[in-house]
Amino acid sequence: MTLKNTRENYGAIARWLHWTTAALFLASYCSVYFRQWFTEKQTPENWTALQLHLSVGITIAVVVLLRVIWRASQPAPDPEPGSKGAHLAAHLGHLALYAVMIVAPLTGYLGTGVDTEYFFLFDIPKFESTSLFTSLVGNGLGLSFEAFEKPLDFIHKEILGTWLIWMLILGHVAAALHHHFILRDRTLRKMTSCN
Ligand code: HEM
Ligand code: HEM
Repeated sequence: MTLKNTRENYGAIARWLHWTTAALFLASYCSVYFRQWFTEKQTPENWTALQLHLSVGITIAVVVLLRVIWRASQPAPDPEPGSKGAHLAAHLGHLALYAVMIVAPLTGYLGTGVDTEYFFLFDIPKFESTSLFTSLVGNGLGLSFEAFEKPLDFIHKEILGTWLIWMLILGHVAAALHHHFILRDRTLRKMTSCN
């Protein structure tokens, strides 16, 4: 298996980044819904689940940064035969996935009113306590944290978390399965196998 992409397959690094991101998205959803559905407010479990959500989300931001840098240096493998419209839809779908992988952690971090206890190893200060918040938002825009976080929370929770990310991921997985089982081409294998 080569580290770099080839014309036939994604390389080991692109695959590792792809499947790690997918696993982290799953962990991000499990932690936040576990918190909301199975824990009482103000309990240690509620706090732990929140902190896991924040820690996983920040890890996604780091992995995605590496992924974008790697992707910029690597052309994707050749697409499977298909109409112009299908290729355009796949391309736009991937771009939208990259966009939510960046915007979700960003809105999450900027709009959160607590420090992140990163996997309970060390603390990452909340944006509100940083000098960037004071200079850009507090002094620059003249906004309180409450006014600043409201739209970010809405985007993070209502638009992205509850709807858009689910739609994009479900569409993406459905497309991968359609290629594999109906069209029987190599689209899924490019991301999973070495030949
Ligand atoms: C790709 C990464 C992320 C995804 C997919 C994601 C997704 C979600 C989802 C689905 C919710 C629940 C929405 C609802 O209330 O129905 C949520 C809530 C939340 N997220 Fe994220 N998030 C991510 C990253 C982050 C990051 C990096 C932070 C902060 C450092 C963060 C902070 C929060 C907070 C504070 C809540 C509210 C928790 C609650 O009310 O239980 N998120 N997020
Ligand atoms: C079970 C879950 C998943 C499956 C089966 C899957 C499958 C695939 C496949 C087969 C490709 C290659 C498509 C092609 O070359 O045309 C791909 C690419 C991609 N996937 Fe996934 N995926 C999954 C989850 C995710 C998740 C959760 C995300 C992000 C939130 C994601 C983001 C992407 C992106 C951005 C690409 C384009 C890669 C590039 O060219 O840079 N995938 N996926």
